[in-house]
Amino acid sequence: MLLTDDAPLPLRTVDPAFRRDIIEGLSRDPKATPPIWFYDRRGSELFEAITDLPEYYPTRTETALLERHGPDFAAAVGRGRAVVEFGAGSARKTPHLLRAIDPAAYVPIDISGDFLHASSAELASLFPGLPVLPVVGDFNGDLTLPAAVSGLPRLGFFPGSTIGNMEPEAAVDLLRAMHRLLGDGAMLLIGMDRIKDRDRLIAAYDDAKGVTAAFNLNLVTRINRELEGDLPLDGFVHRAIWNDDKARIEMHLEAVRPLHFHVAGQCFRMAAGESIHTESSHKYGARDERLLLRAGGWEPVREWTDAEDLFSLILAQA
Ligand code: AVI
Repeated sequence: MLLTDDAPLPLRTVDPAFRRDIIEGLSRDPKATPPIWFYDRRGSELFEAITDLPEYYPTRTETALLERHGPDFAAAVGRGRAVVEFGAGSARKTPHLLRAIDPAAYVPIDISGDFLHASSAELASLFPGLPVLPVVGDFNGDLTLPAAVSGLPRLGFFPGSTIGNMEPEAAVDLLRAMHRLLGDGAMLLIGMDRIKDRDRLIAAYDDAKGVTAAFNLNLVTRINRELEGDLPLDGFVHRAIWNDDKARIEMHLEAVRPLHFHVAGQCFRMAAGESIHTESSHKYGARDERLLLRAGGWEPVREWTDAEDLFSLILAQA
């Protein structure tokens, strides 16, 4: 049963925050833009394609953990919770969790309205009788849960190691905000990607088919379309770099020649070899994961990992 309060944003609306973040990011030295702006319709489709790539192990590893440990989740969290999914996207992993724990309501939160409404409708048809209450919004900003879930015990669900796309300070702030939103006593099931062999990490972010490159370069197309930009698409190449000191994969758009372009009426220059840092994807050791959660106000309760220790799912309590 799909229950929506808000209509999707009109397709041609330009988000002023997008303009602000891109102008600010391109004005910085070194240039850096927030990864949330990858996810227009095309970017969301490309991300879905990434999750099916042989090199991109996180999605299938986490999905296998969700499939395998359903009875453990049910025993640890019980039935009748409101499941609040942060950054739900296509919510492809969610059915495994919902089937296992028999919740009272499902609240997917995502910044991409079109995508969220489509995936919510699909989920509602898979679980007839389960109230599905999508919330369009940025889970890094201020959010309110639908009134229909007040009084229900909550389980936050934050899969995919999306937390890794945040700087550690921002990750702690977000975990604290989740604690405030979900309330004391709430639980959180969170996916975190492990530190591993460098080559395996690089391949996951620089795949042979070039899907991740297309995902990164789609930001250039989006800037041109929505912000009256004239960035040359052939002026940039995709780079994925392992930053060992910060334990993260960095994605960059590197200028292949000196560039001069405009965005929203402002002029920018880049030297050959200079890059726009478009995403960081932090990876964690087992102790790092627990430290981060505790700093964010969540006490780890249980943890599940695959045989190769590629990825972990952690259950924590507020
Ligand atoms: C959404 N996020 C967790 C993905 C990641 O692995 O950091 C985004 C992504 N970027 C390139 N490939 C996937």
